Amino acid sequence: SVSLLVDCDTGIDDALALAYLCSQPQVELVAVSSTPGNVGAEQVARNNLSLLELCGRPDVPVAIGARAPLRIPLTTTPETHGPQGVGYAELPEPRGQLNGVDAVELWVEAARSRPGELTALLTAPLTNFALALRAEPRLPELLRGVVIMGGSYYYQGNTTPTAEWNTHVDPHAAAEVFAAFSGLPEECLPVVCALETTERIELTPGHVAALAAEAGCTEPELVLPEQPEGRRSTASNELVRHLSDMLRFYFEFHRKYGQGYVAHIHDYFAASVAARTARYSTRTATVHVETAAPKLIGTTVADFRGLWGEPPNARIVSENHPSEAFAELVRALGGLARS
Ligand code: BDR
Ligand code: CA
Repeated sequence: SVSLLVDCDTGIDDALALAYLCSQPQVELVAVSSTPGNVGAEQVARNNLSLLELCGRPDVPVAIGARAPLRIPLTTTPETHGPQGVGYAELPEPRGQLNGVDAVELWVEAARSRPGELTALLTAPLTNFALALRAEPRLPELLRGVVIMGGSYYYQGNTTPTAEWNTHVDPHAAAEVFAAFSGLPEECLPVVCALETTERIELTPGHVAALAAEAGCTEPELVLPEQPEGRRSTASNELVRHLSDMLRFYFEFHRKYGQGYVAHIHDYFAASVAARTARYSTRTATVHVETAAPKLIGTTVADFRGLWGEPPNARIVSENHPSEAFAELVRALGGLARS
């Protein structure tokens, strides 16, 4: 089994990641914390509460930590994820309350009380995790593992020509996090889901239709490109309806940016790595996050060959298996919606 502390900025692909984790019987969700990123922290927390309730997990504590990146103002991305972070979906008002404890405190307490047991899954800017490392520098040793979605290491970014979104929104936090792992034994280094591998997890309307069928929806799921923009799902299954309404927005966003009527569901891949259901390979590297040069802010550079003479601080995913990832997602989310 896997016991997870999740930090996310929900976010359409974060939502898929959370729903996927709820479908996995081997996953214990210890807590879900909310980082500002795709939308502000309060909205992220609201989305997390609502989604966990929809997925039958109202018991999972949801907390808020930082309200803004460490040193720079927050940029959100309504064009990518919609004004509320969940595309066209209108999630029900959550019934539960936020956990009153600050997310950073919650993480530190959880890691100290269960040393060597908890795995961190980070699918947002690394603000909360950087603050937790400041509060408890032994965190890398206290955790069983760390999985990060962030950075691009082989070619180009999705936010600036060279920077990926999560490292761009809070570059100072990302730099602190990578520095904290420098020189630790290889098994302690974070597994980093590079943009180059998460962009291969490219969902299509066919996958949504398969998921709806798997969930037992008798009406076809109409998230097709020829439909007018903004058309809402008619699925009778509530979870399928919300997922379809999120994904239609994500498909339309990717099409506007010339990537086709598809959706890169980065954070789901990271979740499947943390849940130990994905096959992947990694390369050890020393990662530098640029925080000064104006046009390179948030850019991640990986030294795979030891040319800087600095110890490694990351294991970067270099290979993954998209068709297996889709089959797993369709089966898991279809099953969750049916249940
Ligand atoms: C990352 O940016 C966010 O918009 C997504 O949720 C994902 O975590 C991909 O660059
Ligand atoms: Ca995210």
